[in-house]
Amino acid sequence: MTKRITFLGIETSCDETAAAVIRENDKGTADVLSNVVSSQISEHKKFGGVVPELAARAHLENIEYIIKVALDESKVSLNEIDGIAATAGPGLIVCLTVGLNIGKSIAAFSNKPFIAVNHLEGHALSPGIENNIQFPYLLLLISGGHSQFLIVKDVNQYEQLGTTIDDALGEAFDKTAKMLDLGYPGGPSVEKASKLGNKNFFKLPEPIINKAGCNLSFAGLKTAVLRESKKLNGDNKLKFNLAASFQNTINKILYKKTKIAIEMFKEKINSSNINLVVAGGVAANISIRENLKKLSEEIGFKTVYPSLKFCGDNAAMIAWAGIQRFKKNLLNKIDVEAKSRWPLDENAPYMKGPGLKI
Ligand code: KG4
Ligand code: ZN
Repeated sequence: MTKRITFLGIETSCDETAAAVIRENDKGTADVLSNVVSSQISEHKKFGGVVPELAARAHLENIEYIIKVALDESKVSLNEIDGIAATAGPGLIVCLTVGLNIGKSIAAFSNKPFIAVNHLEGHALSPGIENNIQFPYLLLLISGGHSQFLIVKDVNQYEQLGTTIDDALGEAFDKTAKMLDLGYPGGPSVEKASKLGNKNFFKLPEPIINKAGCNLSFAGLKTAVLRESKKLNGDNKLKFNLAASFQNTINKILYKKTKIAIEMFKEKINSSNINLVVAGGVAANISIRENLKKLSEEIGFKTVYPSLKFCGDNAAMIAWAGIQRFKKNLLNKIDVEAKSRWPLDENAPYMKGPGLKI
C-alpha cells in the first residue's frame, strides 16, 4: 500500500486563525482529519472591518492553541506528519508572519519539510479537497482582496485572463454592508438583506460591462450605492431593495464576464470538457452560485464549488496546497519570508492605479 501524505496547514493571512490536518486518500481527494478556524468577527465588528494590529495580536494569542486543537482532533501525532504548510502571502505582513514563523519553527524542530503557500493558490486548489478535478480548469476567484479569472493549468501554473481594476468583490459587499448599516461581516449580511427586497427597484451601474474582456470593476457600483444609501431616510424597505439591487447587479456583471471568460478559456484550451471553479469567500454566496449555474446550463460547462467551509479562509486548503507542492518537490527553505503582494500569474499586467488604460 502506498503511503498517504499527511500535512499540517496553518493560515493567518487576514482575520481567521486556522490550522488543519489533511491526508490524501485513495480517491485522489483528501480526508480532512481536522479543520479548526477561529474567527475574529467579534473583535473587528465594532470597527466595521479588519484592524491589522488587532488581527495580528489575536493570531499571536490563539495560534498555538489552534494548532494544538487541530493536531488533537486529527488524532495524528507530529511524528506521523510529512510536512508543514503555512500561508506566506499575499496579505497583511503583521498577520502572515505569525503563522509563517510558527510553521517554520515546527518544521525546524521536527525536521520536516516546509512549504510556504500562496493563499490564492490555497483557494485555487481548494475544490480538489472534495473533487477529483482535472487540470486545466477555469477559476473565478472572488474574495475580500481579489477578484480574478485564471486558467489553472497545474499546481504552480496559472494564467490570468482578467482581474478587477479597482475593488475586490468581497470589498464591494463589505462596503455596501457598511453603507446600509447591515453589520459585519458584510457579505453574508448583504446576501441576507437582499432576500427581503425588490432586486429591480434601483437601476445601478454595471461598470466596464461591454469592454475590457473579462476584467471587472466595482468602484462605480459602490459609489452609486453610496449615493442611493444617503436617500433612504431610515426606510428599511428601501434599504432591502438597495441590497437586492446590488446583489442583482453583481449577478448580472458576473454572468456577462464569466461568459466572456469561458470563451477566452475555450480559445486557449482545446477541450470539450470545461469546468468552472468558483472559489474564495464570496463563492459562499448562494445567489451567485445559482446565477452561474444557470449560465453553465445555458452554454454547456460544469460548475464546481467548494463546500461552504472551504470557501472562506481556512487551513485545510493551505495543507492541501502544501501536499500538492510537496508532491512536485516545490519545497521552501526555512528563511522564506512573508510577501504582501504575490500574484498567481507573475506575468499578468498590474491592473490597478491611475493612468490605467483598458
Ligand atoms: O476568502 P475570504 O474568506 O478572505 C480573503 O481571502 O479575502 O473572503 C472574505 C470575503 C469578505 O469580503 C466577505 O464579506 C465575503 O468574502 N463573503 C461573502 C459571503 N460570505 C463571505 N460575500 C458575499 N456573500 C457571502 N455569503
Ligand atoms: Zn482568502
